[in-house]
Amino acid sequence: MVNHFLKLSDIAPEEIQPILDRAIELKAGATSNALAGKSVAILFEKPSLRTKLSFWVGAEKLGGHPVHFSPEEVGLGKREPVADVAQVMSRMSDVAVIRTFAQETIEEFAANASIPVINALTDMEHPCQALADTQTITEQLGSVKGAKVAFIGDGNNVAVSLGYAVAGLGGNLTVASPDGYKLPAEDLEGANTYGAAAGGSVTQVTSPQEAVADADIVYTDVWTSMGQEAETAKRLVAFDGYQVNPALLDQAGPNVKFMHDLPAHPGEEISDGLLYDSRAVAFDQAENRLWAQAALMEKLI
Ligand code: NVA
Repeated sequence: MVNHFLKLSDIAPEEIQPILDRAIELKAGATSNALAGKSVAILFEKPSLRTKLSFWVGAEKLGGHPVHFSPEEVGLGKREPVADVAQVMSRMSDVAVIRTFAQETIEEFAANASIPVINALTDMEHPCQALADTQTITEQLGSVKGAKVAFIGDGNNVAVSLGYAVAGLGGNLTVASPDGYKLPAEDLEGANTYGAAAGGSVTQVTSPQEAVADADIVYTDVWTSMGQEAETAKRLVAFDGYQVNPALLDQAGPNVKFMHDLPAHPGEEISDGLLYDSRAVAFDQAENRLWAQAALMEKLI
């Protein structure tokens, strides 16, 4: 059976911590040749900085060979059917890293692939980000278990994957979003079920102040995700009052850390300069993409 990572819950809750532990080992200098002689096909239909760089460098660190395709080169489902692209990539490479729009596209790709397929962001999930996020929380707090994490803003792909990962590790995530932008009901329920045995939970509220009370971590992401640009004006109105700024962080626990998956839009979901606040760990998070994904690739291949 081929191991895919299309959504965070494709791995069991007890499989998360070993990936994070290995990521921390690799970051500390452990070496690996897990991908020696293997090729990693990286196909993105949306822009990327961190994801492309981290998969590319991560593949090389494990002795593998990355091959990157930009959207216009392949035309996934347009120039060539998704199933055919999956078959061709499976014949010539050893793992496929896909960033696309609909979750159904990556599911269809995986159904036709005979190599592991990794979700490098869809409209529904960003599971690799959630591994880097929980690695970062582990580094900051010692453990995700029992951590109180507040996510302020859109109940989007980043929030969904974070919910599964935090709950699966026994942490507690509270998401504060305006009406119309809350977590999908099936993921709110799904993440609570996924995290139940570990004692983790995900809660949806409306008030940012309620979410950040006593939080160890305050996290936000853009209000308008890639592909939603036509909704920007409407979203600016809907998310008024949801900005993370020093005053909101002051309402959290005294040692609170601020997280953002980047890129950020200062003046919108964060105040100017917040990435450089002494409480911010967003660039640690960015670096951890490299290590968490290297550990993930080791496991899947
Ligand atoms: N929610 C954002 C994350 C970017 C890394 C998006 O999908 O555009």
